[in-house]
Formats: sequence, structure tokens, C-alpha cells
Amino acid sequence: MLIVTIVFLSVLYRFGGVDGRSKSPLIEDGEHGDPKPINKAAECIFGNQRRELGQTWVPNLGVPIGVLYCMKCECIQIQRKRRIVAKVQCRSIKNECPEPTCEEPALLPGRCCKTCPGDRFNPDIIHDVIPPELSENEEKSTKHYAALLTDRSSLVLRNDNDEPIPNDNKNNVIATGRFTFQKKNLYYSFYISDKAARPRTLQFVNSMGTILEEHILSDVGGLVNSVYQNATRKVCGVWKRLPREYRRLLKEERLYVVLGWGSKEQSEFTLSGQLTKYVALGTELFSSLLEPSPGSNMQIMSGAGGTAIVSISTVISPSIHLAVVFNGIFLPEEIADVPVNVTLAFEDKKMILTEKVYVTKPASELNVVEISSPISQADLRLLTRGRLVLSVSSMSKQHSLKLSGMVMTKATCELFQTPLSSSGDRDTNKYGTSGLAWVFLNNEGSLVYNVQIEDLHPEQRPVFITLVDISNKKRTELEDLTPSFIDNWANDTIDRLSPKVLEPLYSGDLAVNVASEKETSLIKGRLTPKLVADARDVSAPILLKREDRSLPTSAVGMAWFSVDSDCHIHYDVSLTGMGNSERLLELSLKFLPMSAPDAPFVTRILDEFKGNQAEGSPVDPLSKDELVRLDSGVVFVKVKDKYTRSTLMNATLKQVKVPQNCLPHIDNYVSGSINGEEAIPHTQGACFHERRFYKEEAQWTSLSDPCTMCFCQNGVVKCDTMTCPETNCPPPGRRLKNPGDCCYTCTNSTLEDNETAIPKMCTLLGKTYLPGTTFHPFLIPNGFDTCTLCVCDPLLLQVKCTRNGDEKLCCKNCPSVTSYTDSENQTMYSDHHTVVEVREDKNANEKSAERILAEGGCRNPYNPQMPYRDGQKYHPVIESLGEYKCVTCKCQQGQQSCERLKCTRAMCKMLRSRSKNNHNNGNNLNLASTNNGNTVETCCSLKQCRFRRHQRRRNNSNGQ
Ligand SMILES: *[C@@H]1O[C@H](CO)[C@@H](O)[C@H](O)[C@H]1NC(C)=O
Ligand SMILES: *[C@@H]1O[C@H](CO)[C@@H](O)[C@H](O)[C@H]1NC(C)=O
Ligand SMILES: *[C@@H]1O[C@H](CO)[C@@H](O)[C@H](O)[C@H]1NC(C)=O
Ligand SMILES: *[C@@H]1O[C@H](CO)[C@@H](O)[C@H](O)[C@H]1NC(C)=O
Repeated sequence: MLIVTIVFLSVLYRFGGVDGRSKSPLIEDGEHGDPKPINKAAECIFGNQRRELGQTWVPNLGVPIGVLYCMKCECIQIQRKRRIVAKVQCRSIKNECPEPTCEEPALLPGRCCKTCPGDRFNPDIIHDVIPPELSENEEKSTKHYAALLTDRSSLVLRNDNDEPIPNDNKNNVIATGRFTFQKKNLYYSFYISDKAARPRTLQFVNSMGTILEEHILSDVGGLVNSVYQNATRKVCGVWKRLPREYRRLLKEERLYVVLGWGSKEQSEFTLSGQLTKYVALGTELFSSLLEPSPGSNMQIMSGAGGTAIVSISTVISPSIHLAVVFNGIFLPEEIADVPVNVTLAFEDKKMILTEKVYVTKPASELNVVEISSPISQADLRLLTRGRLVLSVSSMSKQHSLKLSGMVMTKATCELFQTPLSSSGDRDTNKYGTSGLAWVFLNNEGSLVYNVQIEDLHPEQRPVFITLVDISNKKRTELEDLTPSFIDNWANDTIDRLSPKVLEPLYSGDLAVNVASEKETSLIKGRLTPKLVADARDVSAPILLKREDRSLPTSAVGMAWFSVDSDCHIHYDVSLTGMGNSERLLELSLKFLPMSAPDAPFVTRILDEFKGNQAEGSPVDPLSKDELVRLDSGVVFVKVKDKYTRSTLMNATLKQVKVPQNCLPHIDNYVSGSINGEEAIPHTQGACFHERRFYKEEAQWTSLSDPCTMCFCQNGVVKCDTMTCPETNCPPPGRRLKNPGDCCYTCTNSTLEDNETAIPKMCTLLGKTYLPGTTFHPFLIPNGFDTCTLCVCDPLLLQVKCTRNGDEKLCCKNCPSVTSYTDSENQTMYSDHHTVVEVREDKNANEKSAERILAEGGCRNPYNPQMPYRDGQKYHPVIESLGEYKCVTCKCQQGQQSCERLKCTRAMCKMLRSRSKNNHNNGNNLNLASTNNGNTVETCCSLKQCRFRRHQRRRNNSNGQ
């Protein structure tokens, strides 16, 4: 029974799931393994929900199966060699049902076991045990950890055979990490020795060396794609949603981090360290990575290193605080109360600070010393500009046992951002000016800034852009960004940064102000810190502009989007000045293949939120089509009011880098090209032709050639070009071809004289023709019917068509009637009425045409005297073919809707076997008359059957 259920579920989920992660949650993953990096090892995905380790639930499979009350699922840990992975395990609990205590137990709704009245014990009631949400305190408080990664780590890494992994760190590479735990996520950042390439992997492990989480940091060659990481020379990332158990390990300082170098096949060396809390981290403004100084005794100092956490305070008079974490400068005989010399110097010349401190009990892995000292403003400036060297040395061997390093920008990967918003007063912001700004400190301690200002009216120019300290009422202007303002952007770097900027920047009291000559503050915003990872680790955010005019003019937003190597999209949206904060908002993306008329679009809802912030990544990965459009199409970001559906904010999403492995490998797919039509991905239900889109079933004249007509069927464009029939006008030379016409028309004096009068026209199948025009009718799906010649009779203004009797070229059993007309006087249809229903219904004939139309009937273009009645089904009549059986129409309330005969598998099979026998080329237009009674051959071409097969195969593969 259990096995049956599991197989059934797996089938169901195979179709529901999209990628490897959400594949059948009830099937054991085979040992042959995951092809993808096990990035999200610490959580389970079931259906469309993330489940934390340790969570249990009753599976709900949705319609039509619903809840399986006799199954219990759990997100469990599995140890697979050196890794712990999360996995969904479901089992039947039917066998655990107790023996009923009464004769007629009942199965109550929502239960698995039969019970008797009064039964208390309910083994089958499992509640969705959702681990308690973080308490508000936990949610808000940010916790800081640091790690020193050296060869002196106590952690022993073992390979799959439980042997210690040899570590070949020839160049004495070391690293230091900072970790910020925020909203269940652990953000990490590292400074690594300059001499090392970017590490390939990062692992979080427990004290046994078992891998709990693993991230791939760089592709082959150690390259980094991130502008931020490149400019700061940091390694940045995030471990999202730590399960409770791992949060506990972190809190108890039992979590380790391991950086690995080398290739996937061949590991070169690793560095590891323990995540430790230090009080000083809460106020850290600068960091330092300490390496053995030149001239050190590398026998004693092999694999040694250190890091410093540097804070400053300017409350009364400037002072500096150093917490130095280090190892490796002790001689074997130094075991207690060992003095070390800590110095801070400017380019080996000027000693700024030198202090002797004692290490009570030297340890081989971690020693911590702390120092506080006053510092002059001038030295503070040197510190801010990254000019100071920190060192710690042994007192007994000052030169050979010494660690030193530059004091640099804080190791944490963070940037500071703000939307730029007006006060909301319509008078100060007449033109809806808005903007955004973000800044960060690079490797040299310079401030990199980007400011964007949009909808600035010429009369508001020039503008003045400044960085303002708003920590007190004085509002001190600290830096002027105006000189770099061009083309709505101010992008530049401030090299000689004033120390006065850093403190308000880190404490959230630095604002960007944009003033005009009239307004001291046209738009402004306070820079808030954000940790760099996922969505924010891209080159630039986008500006969300107010779209709904009922929003205050102050409404503005900024949003970051990225796509990771697993093809998941990440977003981070910040809004401001929106007014009503209780409104439920919806964040969505609207994907278009390109900017073209009538382009078909798909919309994906990313989030629903209240307030000013939304951040995350949907469980459902993007489809290939969405990824292609993100890469080379047009995507709009929308923030809507969930209930009124009004679009409040809107932006165009550009420059989202989609990793190559996420894009389909189609030979002729040219990334970024929109010139070649072949580059437009095939879009269900729409056709792309000559730079615009057409709906399924549409029919149009080519924009470039009036003789070419096209139609869209099953997303495929088919075109046919007509050769103009010869036009013989009675007085020769009276031929006329207007631009936009395909064929010559005959003119006569009456027409020319009355040019201003309403032009006289014939109409057929929704197209109009000038009097005298000769043409071949255009019939879906086959194209121009060259066997039929139609002419717009200049006198009667009726289209008359004649069937070409050429049996060889056109038809074997041509209909006997050769002339058609939609004349109101003559009814030439009577001979060959094939619209049976009309004839059968005698009453219809008696009713006047007007009456039928008034009662919801539909016009009959070929016989206006005989409109179709409301509700009537019929085949449309086409000149050369008579009744066109491939299409069935229905008249409903004055509207006709038509449907093409579906080519069934049986029909296609029949066609194929017949065409084999006949050596018939299925690509030829097949215009055999319906009168020979064979709808299969007429309506379904071999090509259509081939398309049908292709379509079916595609649908199947999409569903897996
Ligand atoms: C990384 O930085 C270097 C120099 O700082 C620059 O030349 C290079 O273009 C940058 N690469 C990226 C991907 O930003
Ligand atoms: C500490 O080191 C500095 C620089 O090497 C040196 O000038 C100073 O004298 C040392 N301090 C002591 C107490 O040895
Ligand atoms: C400023 O930087 C942004 C983001 O990198 C870029 O899109 C924009 O083109 C730049 N503008 C100028 C004028 O350099
Ligand atoms: C807002 O969205 C529409 C499409 O829905 C688009 O045509 C328009 O250009 C967008 N505006 C901006 C600023 O992107």
C-alpha cells in the first residue's frame, strides 16, 4: 500500500516540479548524486514550500488528491560521507493505528485511524510543526562573529576515507572573516592574503569537520563577477535561513568555516577557523589582516596570522580601540604572562601608538589583546585613508616574530543606499523628480558613490548634490558630489575621505541631499547600511518611479535584482514616501520577449508585502522563457496594490546578468540580439513577424510587401506571396497601382471624378478591394488560392470569383459552379447550398434577414440574404472551395467564432500512410476540394501533423 502511494505521488510530483530541488519529494535521491552544488543543503523543499530541518507535516498535495492523513513527512538530516544533507522523508502511519476498542469504530474526517467514541489517544494527529518564528528581539538584533583562518586551526579536516587531508599552504596564505547574523541569515565576508587567488569553495562545518553548508565562490580561474567584491577585494556571500540547530551551534561558538583552493578535481589547500563572538565587532570601523612581516622566522611562524578589529570614538576627544586576534609569535618556552608589543605606525616612519600588553596564557590557535588610546585628528585622517600599519610582535624577538598589516575598511561586505524622495509637497516637487544613491568604501578606503536623479526639469537646474551629516541639528555638509553630475548621474570616488564622513555613515546619520537654486532640499535620503550578497551583489540597483498619480509625489523606490548560478532570481526592494503603510503590495515582473507592438507577455508575482521592504527569492525557479527574456528581452518591475490592482510603481529592469548555464543552448540563439527574428524565442500563442507580434489565428498583410499575406497558426508564421493576375482594362493604359496595393486596378472616369466622394469598395473576408482589382483569395492554412480568380466588379461593387478549371494544377473534382457573388439580387448559392442547417430550417428562410440579425444572428458575407441564426453552427463558404469543412463556425449573439478542425493522431496517421503510398509531398499546399469529401487530406497537411508531434513532445518535456 505504501509503495503504491509513493509511486503515485512521485508521478504527480514529477509533473509538478521544475528543477532538481523540487523533484519528487518522496523519492530517495540516488547515490549517483546531485549534479548541482549542494548550496541549499540545510533545507527541504516539498511542493512549493521550504521546510526547515526538523519540521514535520502532513502532506497536502492539493487538488485533486488533497491531504494524505495517513502520511507523515519530516525534513531530516542525512549524513552522506562528510556531508549532512536535508531530505524529506514521508512514511505511512497507518500501521501505528491502535486496535479500536469498540465494535464499530468510525473514520472521522481528516483522520487516518478509525476511532471509537471516547478515544483519547490520537496517533494520527500530526500538526504541521513549524519551528517557532524568531522572537522579535532575535529578529531585530544583529549578531556579529569573526574568524581567523590560519594553518593553526584546531579543526582537522578528513577526506571520505576518514584520513586527514594533506594541506599544502606553501605561501602561508591566511584569511579573516566577519559574520553577521540577521533575520535567520548568516552573511559572511573575508579578507584574504593578497598573494592568494580567490578561493573556490566555502564550507560551514561542525567541530567534527562534517559539512553543513557549501558554497561555490568562483568559477575556474578564480574570477569574480561582482563589481563590489572586485573593488573591495573581499569575498562576500550569505547562508540563507539557518535551521534552528545550526543557529544553536553558531550561538555556542561551535561552527567553523573552511575556505578551499584548487580545482574541483584537485584540492590545493584549505584554511579554517572558528566563528567567535567579540564585543568589539559591534563598533568595528576598520579591520586588519596581520601576516608575518618581512624578515620573520618562518620556521616558527609558519601558518601564523592575525586580525584586528578597530573602532574609533570621537564623543569627547578622539580615541582608538584595537582588539587584536592572533597566533604564532610565541617561543616554545613562553607559556605564561608573555608581553607582546602592539604598534600603529605611518609608513614605518611615524609611530602613532606603541603599547606593551601581556598575554596571560599563550595559545597556539587564538590569542586576544585589547588596547585603547587617544588619537589625534591628523592620525585619524591617516587611519581613514588606509595609511596606517598595525603590528604585533614578540618582545623577546622584535623582528623575527612579528605580524603586521594595513588597517583597512571594515571587512564586512556592506554598502549604504537610499531612495531620494521629496517632502511630498506638490509645490516643491512639481515635476515628480526622484532618484537614488548608493555608496561603499573600496579597498583603498575611498568612498565610491553613485547618485541617479530622474525627471529633473530644465528650470530646476543646476542642482547641488551633497553628503550631509544629520546627526545633529546643524546639518553639516561634508562632501560636494555636484562636479561629477552628468547625464542624470553623479558617479565618482572620493579618495581623500574626511574621517567625519565615516562615523555618520556607519551610524546611519549620513544623508544625500539634492538642492536646486529655489529649493534647499528638492529630494533627499538617509543612507542605510545593507549587507552585500545575492540581489545586492550586482553592479547597480534600479529606480522605481511613481506610476499611480494618486500616490504622493514623494513615492520612490529602489530595487536590486540578480540571478544566481542555480538560475534563481533574488530581489530586494526598498520604498519610501508611499503614504499608507497598511496597504498590501504585490511585487511582480512583466516579461516581454522584446519591445514590439502587441508583444505577448507573462507576469510573475514575486512577493506580497506590507510596508517598505521586500527581499527574497521565490521557491519556484524561473522558466527558461523568463530567463531568456531577462537576458535579452524587456522586463518591467511593478509594485501593485494587491486589492485595487493599480500599478503604483514601475521600472524597466535592464542589465540583469543571467549565467550562461541558465540559458538554453540553441545554436541560433544569439544572446542580446534582437535583430535576427530567429533570435526571438518561440512564444506560445503568438507570432513574431517583421518586428511586431500577432495573436494566434491572426491574418495580416506583410508590412514590407503588399502582395504577401501571412497568418499565425500554433505560434508559427506562414506567409504566401501572390502573383498578380493579369489585369486587362478595357481602355488600355487605364491601369492604376496605389502604393500599398499589390495588383493593378482598372480605373474609370467616374472614379477619378469623384475622388473626394466616399471611395467605392468591394469587401471580402474582411478585406476591401478597389473596383476592378483582381486577386486570388487568401485562405488559411494554405495561402493564396491561385486556382481562384476574384475581381471586384466596378459597377456592382461585388466580388466575383471564378474557379480555374485546370484539373492538373488545381483540382480533380472542381465544383461545378464557376462563378460566385455576394450580390444582393442574385442568389447563385441556391444550387449548391451545403450549409445544411440553413436549408433544413424552413422558418429561417421565411424570416427576414434583418429579423435574424436582430435576434442575434450573424452576417453571411456570401449571402447577405441568408444570415446565420443565433446558435447556428456552420462551415464558412469560400468561393473556390464551396463549404470549407476544415473550419466550423458558430454564431452566438451576433458574434461568430470559428475553430479549425483539430488534426487528431488518427488523421495524421492516415495522412502519413496515404502520402507514403502517393509519394505526395506534404509540404505542398494542399487545396483539394472538400467536395471530394476527404477532410483529412484537405485540412491536415503533413507539416501540421509534424508540428503536432513536435508540440506534444515539447509539452511532455516541459512537464518534467
Ligand atoms: C576588477 O578590478 C580591476 C582593477 O581594479 C579592473 O581592471 C577589472 O575590470 C575589474 N573587473 C570587474 C569584473 O569588475
Ligand atoms: C615596539 O615596537 C616598536 C617598533 O618596532 C619599537 O619602536 C618599540 O620600541 C617597541 N616597544 C617596546 C616596549 O619594545
Ligand atoms: C553611473 O553608474 C551607473 C551604474 O553603474 C551607470 O548605469 C551609469 O551609466 C553611470 N553614468 C555615468 C554618466 O557614468
Ligand atoms: C511601465 O510599464 C509599462 C508596461 O506595463 C511600460 O510601457 C512603461 O514604459 C513602464 N515605465 C517605465 C518607467 O519603465
